[in-house]
Amino acid sequence: MNVTVRTAEVSDWPAVWEMLRPVFRSGETYAVAPDISEHDARNYWLAPSRRTFVAEDEGAVVGTYYLAANFDGNADHICNCGYVTAAAARGRGVARRMLAHSLEAAREAGFRAMQYNCVVSNNLSAIALWKSGGFRIIATLPEAFRHPADGLVDAYVMWKQL
Ligand SMILES: CC(C)(COP(=O)(O)OP(=O)(O)OC[C@H]1O[C@@H](n2cnc3c(N)ncnc32)[C@H](O)[C@@H]1OP(=O)(O)O)[C@@H](O)C(=O)NCCC(=O)NCCS
Repeated sequence: MNVTVRTAEVSDWPAVWEMLRPVFRSGETYAVAPDISEHDARNYWLAPSRRTFVAEDEGAVVGTYYLAANFDGNADHICNCGYVTAAAARGRGVARRMLAHSLEAAREAGFRAMQYNCVVSNNLSAIALWKSGGFRIIATLPEAFRHPADGLVDAYVMWKQL
């Protein structure tokens, strides 16, 4: 795969929603209402306070991520990201590429650290990826996530200095 990452355009939304919809509907990985409407999902993923990107492989959109300040005011030097790879493109390095891009974009924007607030503890592929990118678990939130199959599971706060 020759994955490139670029800023998302409004016209990318249908392709982005195709990737987000099954992820949100499953309720397995994001702290987002599983029945979120397309309108609300768009306002969430493409919020003006966020920079949103898409990953492309040979012209096809295969991934998306956002970058945003995780806190306001005097804590806005820590950022947050969310990543989704199209189901058909998983396991081929798309998220690894988006992670590298996001770390670079965050450093360029002047953020001092990146924090993921709610990494579901049974999302093993994501946890392995974040750890391999230098993130560590700095807190465990007991039973913070209601997983549709596994019930109440812990969630992790994962953090990396930039
Ligand atoms: C998590 C997610 C973004 C990973 O995307 P991806 O493009 O498939 O990931 P990559 O191909 O870049 O894999 C990178 C690393 O992730 C880990 N990984 C990926 N798939 C894995 C799997 N099935 N089992 C274990 N580890 C896995 C590995 O560490 C892998 O590194 P390697 O290729 O050197 O072994 C993707 O599965 C996804 O969109 N899931 C739904 C949304 C989600 O969970 N987002 C993250 C929320 S914290």
